[in-house]
Order: sequence, then C-alpha cells, then structure tokens
Amino acid sequence: MSSLRKVAATVLSKVVKDGQSLTVALDSVLESVPEAKDRAFIQALCYGVVRYYHRLDFILQQLLSKPLRNKDTDIKMLLLIGIYQLQYMRVKTHAAVSETVSAAKKKSWAKSLINAVLRQYMREQEQLEKQADDNKLVASSHPEWLVNKITKDWPEQVQKLLLENNKQPPMAIRVNLSQSNQQAYLKLLEENSISANAVPFCSSAIILESPVAVEKLPGFTEGMVSVQDTAAQLAAELLDVKAGQSVLDLCAAPGGKTAAILERQVESISMTAVDIDEGRLKRVKENLQRLKLTANVIAGDAAKPSEWVQDQKFDRILLDVPCSALGVIRRHPDIKILRRESDIEELQTIQQQILQAAWELLLPGGILLYATCSILKQENEQQIETFLNTQSNAEEIILDGDWGEKRSFGRQVLTGNQNMDGFYYAKLVKK
Ligand SMILES: C[S@@+](CC[C@H](N)C(=O)[O-])C[C@H]1O[C@@H](n2cnc3c(N)ncnc32)[C@H](O)[C@@H]1O
Repeated sequence: MSSLRKVAATVLSKVVKDGQSLTVALDSVLESVPEAKDRAFIQALCYGVVRYYHRLDFILQQLLSKPLRNKDTDIKMLLLIGIYQLQYMRVKTHAAVSETVSAAKKKSWAKSLINAVLRQYMREQEQLEKQADDNKLVASSHPEWLVNKITKDWPEQVQKLLLENNKQPPMAIRVNLSQSNQQAYLKLLEENSISANAVPFCSSAIILESPVAVEKLPGFTEGMVSVQDTAAQLAAELLDVKAGQSVLDLCAAPGGKTAAILERQVESISMTAVDIDEGRLKRVKENLQRLKLTANVIAGDAAKPSEWVQDQKFDRILLDVPCSALGVIRRHPDIKILRRESDIEELQTIQQQILQAAWELLLPGGILLYATCSILKQENEQQIETFLNTQSNAEEIILDGDWGEKRSFGRQVLTGNQNMDGFYYAKLVKK
C-alpha cells in the first residue's frame, strides 16, 4: 500500500536528514498504524533500507542525472525504498513500482521520476548490482571511515565483520533466574511451540530459532523473561556479586544489566542505578517494575559522582560506558549512517573520565567490570591499558570462559561470533 511506503519514507527522512535514531523515528509513527502486519511491513522497509543505505544510494546515483535537493529527501527515500523492494523483498514487481510511485502523492514530477528510475533499475539491475559488488566499499554498505577503522583493528576478520553487521540478529532472551531457569523456561517455550536453544556458556540465555512478539513469550508480562543479547547477559555473571553486597550500575539505562544482576541476587543486595539521561531512566523504572525488582535509581553524570553520591562506596561496580556501539550495528544499522569518525575520540575521552571517577567509588577488594558494545581496541583493551598505567591500586582479573577471545587486556566478542553482539569486558580489582 502506498501510504505505508509514505510512512516509511517519512521515518527514513527523519534518520537521514534530521539525524534521529531509527528506533525513535519508528516509535513516533508506528503508534498510529493500527494493523500489526502494516507495522511489520513499515519496519521491514525501514530496517532494510537503512541496512543497505550506502549500497542503494550508490545505485541510485547511477540512475539519476543530477542529485535530488535536500528538501526532496522524502522522494529520495521513496526511490531507495523502491530499489530495496525490487532487489531484496518478495514484493510483486508491479506493486513495488506502482505503490511507490503513488506514495509521492501530489508531486507529479516525483511520480514520473520514480516511475522512470525504477523501470530503468529493472532493465539494468544485473549490471548495476555487479557495479556495486565490484566496488569494495559499496559492496558491504558501510561508510569508508568505518571500513578503515575495522580493517585497522581486525585485518583478518574484516570481511566477516562487515557481513555480520548486515545480518539480521537472532532474538535472544534472558530468563529471570529469580523466577525460573534455563531448562524450565525452555520447556515452557516448547509447550508453546516456540523453538529455541539454551546457550551453554551463559546460564540465563536462550536463543529463539525465529523471532516472536514479546507478548507471545510465556510469562513475559509477569517478568519471567526479557529480551537481551547473550553478550550483554554475561555482565551479570562476570560481576560475581555476593549476598549482602552493594552494587553500583553506572550508565544503567534502559536497565537491562541492572535487572540481570538483581535477578541473580534479588533479596540480599543493594543496587544503585545511575544514568545521565532522565528519559531513559523512566525505562529502567518500567523494566524493574515489570520484573518485580527494586533499585535506587538516580539521574547523574558518572564522571561527576560528587553531584549524586556522598560518602558511599561500593563492593561491585558495573561500568557500561557510552560507546560507539559498533558491536551492535546488526541490531541498530542506523549507526552506519549516524555515527561520525570524530565521535570515537570524544567517546574515548569520556570513557576514561568515567572510569577514573568510578574507581574512586570502589571499596578496597571491590570489583569493577568495564563493558562496551564496541569492537574498537581504542575503546576497549587500549582504554584498560591506559587506566592500569595510571592506577597503581588496580589489577586486572583475567577473564576465562568459553566465549569471545582473550585480548592483551580483557576479553572481546566479535560481532556474530557464537551468535552474539560485539562486546568487550575487562574485570578490575582494587588492591
Ligand atoms: C550502553 S548504554 C547502557 C546500557 C545499559 N547498561 C543496559 O544494559 O541496559 C550507555 C548509557 O550511558 C548513559 N550515559 C552517557 N553518558 C553518561 C554519563 N556521563 N553519566 C552517566 N550515564 C551516561 C547513556 O544515557 C546510556 O543510557
């Protein structure tokens, strides 16, 4: 239907032109689409076009005699939607063209343009796709700076990483260990005809064979289960919280890891969850409420603890720092459009500031777990190396496990390995 394509074009314009995240842009429009199958179609178009944006844009450039003006971004998005459907979706060719043309509504020049471009694409599809395949950068649909960065850090794995970034990730769920366990929940899933497998190296994690709506997961509303990638679930296990301890989750929103920690030790620990973003903290509270868990939730800047904590120190600190998120591109493909190379150094500075500030809040003998969903060494092992060079009372605890790979400091999961998002952990103890 043309109106669905129009909605998708509006969402994509918000991402490409206004710099909004795809999740926020989609949330703002999907509420007003009543039918679930229509919402799914809009979502599929938007995720698909964003995932292959750089490649589709290259093909579009070959088909246009002059670039479209900025004010016609919506028309450009319709053109990309049209090409995407013809190349990647099982939509009938006739519908893909005619419905996309109709979505241009009253702009008659745009209707003719879309019609002509899509028909030319169909005539020249084979040669255009080959041109895109032959161009090393365009083929993988990543910006040049990003390919260079990944190549520099992971020269042998770069091709696999670029491929993994464009794949649809699996749906991983976390069993609430205060209510159930992996085996019991697997049985429940089986009874509900949902095929799934336990993750052997993470006691709370299950991967579904195909994604389902969360409402279909048995006990979801009652807090028996949450959606969370396996790599993120590892944090709770690695933090190794003991009964009676005080835990600080810095940079906690939307609260996935806060909840995962509490689910393992519900009654006996005191949990403080801090985040700078008040809006995102609302989601921490909602998540905790659904899971029937409690924490002291505070809005504050992790780099300036004196603004939100007095003399309190903690036995355990989880530091899930703001990062480039390059390990979760498969879940958030808009990162390839929105992230700038200059962001990385800025983030690196903030990460080190937060790490240094958090260290002051740790009790002697206490453990700090540093985490990112990045695959870049400068945010990960190099960051820990710098930190250990400046703090004489910090020592690394070597992370062994059947997951990821040991690095000079910490442990790295590369995107797609063992079905996980790209993630990094390093564990430090205060002497
Ligand atoms: C990777 S996300 C955290 C994800 C979260 N730990 C979870 O598992 O659900 C990073 C968070 O850091 C927060 N943040 C960014 N800068 C911060 C700062 N200076 N102080 C505290 N939080 C910050 C962001 O608002 C964001 O929620």
